[in-house]
Amino acid sequence: MSFAKHGRASSTRGVKNLNIVVVSPEKFGNTAADIVQRVTENTEAPNITFPTGDSPLPLYRELVNRYQHGKLSLANVQAFGLDEWGELEPGHPIRCISRMKTQLYSETDIPVEQIYYLEPNTDDLDVHCEAYDKRIADMGGLTLSILGIGINGHIGFNEPGSKATVRTRKIQLADRTLNVSQKYGFDKTPSWGVTLGLATLLESKEILILATGAHKAEIVHLTVNGPETSDVPSSLMRRHPNCTLLLDEAAAQLLKK
Ligand code: GLP
Repeated sequence: MSFAKHGRASSTRGVKNLNIVVVSPEKFGNTAADIVQRVTENTEAPNITFPTGDSPLPLYRELVNRYQHGKLSLANVQAFGLDEWGELEPGHPIRCISRMKTQLYSETDIPVEQIYYLEPNTDDLDVHCEAYDKRIADMGGLTLSILGIGINGHIGFNEPGSKATVRTRKIQLADRTLNVSQKYGFDKTPSWGVTLGLATLLESKEILILATGAHKAEIVHLTVNGPETSDVPSSLMRRHPNCTLLLDEAAAQLLKK
């Protein structure tokens, strides 16, 4: 594998099919937004997963900016939440759906009736999760899965140990996830979450994984160059035929030049 580092985006095919793109932090949001805009303009009703966390923030800022300047519409998007914390009451500001509303949904023209999300406070969570997968399947599957990478390689809340065949479900959060999630300012950090499963994500037509910052360099290196294993769920994404890993220079620093 090789990749060039420029001010402009540089791109190369890494292990298997992975398309690795490295950009400066200033260009990160723009590059990601170009991919989302291409999908929204070329698909009648794209089904897109939206993650929370820090990694997608430059993307969301740029999508909002383009919408405000009349350069982009998300009116045809069917938006699917990627994951959700358990143990938080509906409307809690740290909930993923609350953050997505603030950071993207309410700031653009995605119609509310086209926003779908996982609701952990459900009588029968297994049935709810199954229905979420079924809804996606009935709507033709995911068009684009936008994903972050946890510091332990989790994708959504598919923690280490998650196989490529798992579907949407409740999951106990890993200790490293609980530590990192202190940054959200929980009074009491939830011990479990609900997540779209790796199998549903791997069936997506296209995947865009976002990672920024030096603290992601080690897991990015393992994702690209380590063994393909459920111990590092992000490494399983390499088997997808159309997966882009978009990195800033700090996150890419351990990849071979
Ligand atoms: C969180 C979320 C993921 C997110 C990941 C990375 O716990 N469950 O969906 O992609 O961790 O977060 P960040 O982008 O803040 O590093």
